Amino acid sequence: MTGPLGSVELALAGPRPLRGRLRVPGDKSISHRAVLFAALATGASRLSGLADGGDVASSRAAVEALGVKVRETTGPAGEPVLVVRGAGFAGLTEPDDVIDCGNSGTSIRLLAGLLAGRPFHTVLTGDASIVRRPMGRVVEPLRRMGAHIDGRDGGRLAPLAIRGGALRGLRHELAVASAQVKTALLLAGLQAEGTTEVTEPALSRDHTERLLPVMGAVVVAVPGGVRVEAASGGGLGAIDLAVPGDPSAAAFFVVGACVTPGSDLVVEDVCLNPTRIGFVDVLQRMGADVEVVVKEERGGEPVGDIRAAAGPLSATTVAGAEIPRVIDEIPALAVAAAFAAGTTVVADAAELRVKESDRIGTVAQELSQLGVAVQTRADGLVITGGHPHAALLKSHGDHRVAMAAAIAANACDGASTVRGWRAIDSSYPRFAADLASVTE
Ligand code: S3P
Repeated sequence: MTGPLGSVELALAGPRPLRGRLRVPGDKSISHRAVLFAALATGASRLSGLADGGDVASSRAAVEALGVKVRETTGPAGEPVLVVRGAGFAGLTEPDDVIDCGNSGTSIRLLAGLLAGRPFHTVLTGDASIVRRPMGRVVEPLRRMGAHIDGRDGGRLAPLAIRGGALRGLRHELAVASAQVKTALLLAGLQAEGTTEVTEPALSRDHTERLLPVMGAVVVAVPGGVRVEAASGGGLGAIDLAVPGDPSAAAFFVVGACVTPGSDLVVEDVCLNPTRIGFVDVLQRMGADVEVVVKEERGGEPVGDIRAAAGPLSATTVAGAEIPRVIDEIPALAVAAAFAAGTTVVADAAELRVKESDRIGTVAQELSQLGVAVQTRADGLVITGGHPHAALLKSHGDHRVAMAAAIAANACDGASTVRGWRAIDSSYPRFAADLASVTE
């Protein structure tokens, strides 16, 4: 691999097998929750292994803007530790300025729920991608809980202006499974009068339901969903948490190992929450040589290793209730499909259109560049695998499209380039260095 790290383009020369062992950054979803929930807890939480990209930095900056003291220190093994000193929900104070969530959908949606119950004004915004992404799904139920929220297009788009206050509990059925909306409503529910219950058509990632009870909240499973009771603003205790590796980041290396001849790779210390590792089931269905070993439990999450080796893949269908379990991994799985024999169908995944980019369109465009036959559908992709070739590829400003492009290019014969490489900074600034470390 050539090209200075952090440059606007990444140059790759393949095929290079992925071999050895690797640790990926801490899980982004758990990191956001750890920072935000610690800010609501009473006392000092010590968080290590946090995702180091711009997205979690946005959540950290937001809690600091809300008056929470945060400092960096090191742990016993020299690892960076973030100390977040919360003073309960009531410890948050009105920010001096607009809160900029950058590229982070999780920050803006979780903060909307959290701030809906706080007695002050906040304005939440973000970058060019964030101000295009749907916010009505969180604003509308929060308004029904009594929150005052304005935004562009009647509250469907950011910036969002929130005047928090007294909330009442709500029973809400999500039209589309979404862990961000579920979590926003649970954070509002913890501050509301009465009970808040959220059900969803298929289970989305459940990190909130796992972490809140570890911090002392009462979170009860109900059929198809979850319920919280008001915590009267002071119910959460501080935590010490070592965040496990991000399975969504690991997925790129796992797929890279599956499609690049001669690969045999172990990704260590990964969050193995079943709502996050649907991509392993999909790859196994495709005939991939992938296995998962759970080694411990941390912060309510199973943690362990994923081993992957190269081998022939065959096409599959990914649809229905499986979609929420693979939603962030579809760019990586599309690369697996591009190298597989036969035609892979991804359906019921219209949510991909409203991620950091329109991932149905952007993934299809990049696979076409690689010479793969791909069709788009309103809710998915139809990919006929073949022999992808080296190409000039683009990130479309989307970190996961950038990483998918890089692992595809790494498996192809010859020199490729990924333009707009800096998009990876939101979740995985050291991706190129980590890829280099296992492809030497
Ligand atoms: C996330 C939930 C998912 C996922 C996103 C992170 C979370 O979004 O795509 O990357 O941390 O809760 P939705 O809630 O919109 O499905």
